Amino acid sequence: MQANPALGPEGHGAETYNYRVVRQFSIMTVVWGIVGMLVGVIIAAQLAWPELNYGPWFHFGRLRPLHTNAVIFAFGGCALFATSYYVVQRTSGVRLISDGLAAFTFWGWQLVIVLAAITLPLGYTSGKEYAELEWPIDILITLVWVAYAIVFFGTIAKRKIKHIYVANWFYGAFILAVALLHIVNNLEMPVTMWKSYSAYSGAVDAMVQWWYGHNAVGFFLTAAFLGMMYYFVPKQAGRPVYSYRLSVVHFWALVFTYMWAGPHHLHYTALPDWTQSLGMVFSLILLAPSWGGMINGVMTLSGAWHKLRTDPILKFMITALSFYGMSTFEGPMMAIKTVNALSHYTDWTIGHVHSGALGWVAMISIGSIYYLVPRLFNRDRMYSIKLIEAHFWMSTMGVVLYIAAMWMAGVTQGLMWRATNPDGTLTFAFVDSVKATYPYYVVRFIGGALYLSGMFLMAYNIARTAMQGKPVDAPIPALAPAH
Ligand code: HEM
Ligand code: HEM
Repeated sequence: MQANPALGPEGHGAETYNYRVVRQFSIMTVVWGIVGMLVGVIIAAQLAWPELNYGPWFHFGRLRPLHTNAVIFAFGGCALFATSYYVVQRTSGVRLISDGLAAFTFWGWQLVIVLAAITLPLGYTSGKEYAELEWPIDILITLVWVAYAIVFFGTIAKRKIKHIYVANWFYGAFILAVALLHIVNNLEMPVTMWKSYSAYSGAVDAMVQWWYGHNAVGFFLTAAFLGMMYYFVPKQAGRPVYSYRLSVVHFWALVFTYMWAGPHHLHYTALPDWTQSLGMVFSLILLAPSWGGMINGVMTLSGAWHKLRTDPILKFMITALSFYGMSTFEGPMMAIKTVNALSHYTDWTIGHVHSGALGWVAMISIGSIYYLVPRLFNRDRMYSIKLIEAHFWMSTMGVVLYIAAMWMAGVTQGLMWRATNPDGTLTFAFVDSVKATYPYYVVRFIGGALYLSGMFLMAYNIARTAMQGKPVDAPIPALAPAH
């Protein structure tokens, strides 16, 4: 056990929470957020102005997976490590089970990210979306993930508080599901150090890949961030969770239903038709548990709505929940086969992705990191609330510009591609739809750049807060209260 320096000599031997690893992951969340979104802005610019493709390393085709890996696994992953380590300690009333293993997860995860940043531009890829990294990196991810599971579940096992708070259920499901998904989808035969072939082939390979892909959305980008929501929204609002029973019911419904929805990514493909319909039906059912979480989060503000007027951190969180509700309404609609016939292959999908990614995932993470930072540096609040307010508006305007542009681009593309003349010939050549999309790509670029600029404000605000304060490990109260 580490003594808390803040307690002075008498504090020697006093038990503290491990805030060090939380601090490290929190800071890297912002760093990787900036890097990942910067690459996003660059590829958005490349789509608007193709002459910006500098080949082969900085070509769109290589930078796109760099973007997705950086934002999902580096930015999102660090935010999840940081918050889950914080939440599991505070709600269990004990320090993490092992400081050494926790440090291993931090350095191991950073190594994975750096290796991804080197290998993807070099063109090393297994070609599976969101699982592009080659087999040596896959093995490293597995080791880090096992260590993460030991630290997380080990801490729960030695908890002093009998009840396991619902946020931990969501984080726990995320850790278990991602382990399963990662191993099954990455079963592959290495042929050289940086090349492997999937253990599956044809339609089975596609099915496994999108079982993985959709559950990466369901457990990485959704369940885990709901865990974050269930701790930080009540904390920031100063209110208890609206309905604890609803949180448990929608947890089980969500984890059960997500597992079946993957085939909606493969409508009208060689996949057996019944699996496509199954995927569609489960996607429609998924609306209910998703909205259970959204409603529970938003209603937690009952009796505290006035706080929204003055608290930009809460604004981030509640706006995130609104985007969560919106994208989980849109998703089931897009899963309906006839709607998907229009939306698939168009920028509508990209709009949907980013209303979930920028609206939900990034905003709930940003709000939670703003909550954490002063506590990790022994301050009672962030350096500047005005800067958080400015950040909030930049993010909101950025995401709205991004998704509105993509919706319009997507529907335009879908309609142009299917338009036919009375004699049955196509009304438009493909290049006509590319031309029609151009203005929307410019708007998306502007929205993305605005969102990214907000992240720089956040980095500055955090640096000033850290400089004013000092890193501390908070003491664990003798009679650990419920979080
Ligand atoms: C400044 C912010 C961002 C910008 C400008 C941006 C831009 C882009 C662009 C241009 C693409 C490629 C679209 C295409 O192929 O047509 C893309 C794809 C993607 N981005 Fe972002 N992005 C940003 C933030 C994020 C964040 C924060 C996340 C996740 C947390 C994210 C997740 C994704 C995913 C999953 C895809 C692939 C979508 C698909 O294959 O359907 N992005 N992004
Ligand atoms: C009830 C919840 C949801 C359902 C049923 C759903 C459904 C769908 C559907 C039908 C597609 C289009 C597939 C295609 O035509 O290729 C899609 C794409 C996608 N969705 Fe969702 N969605 C949901 C929520 C979310 C959320 C909350 C996020 C992000 C945080 C998200 C991220 C994505 C991504 C990244 C893709 C693009 C995958 C790819 O092709 O690369 N979805 N979703």
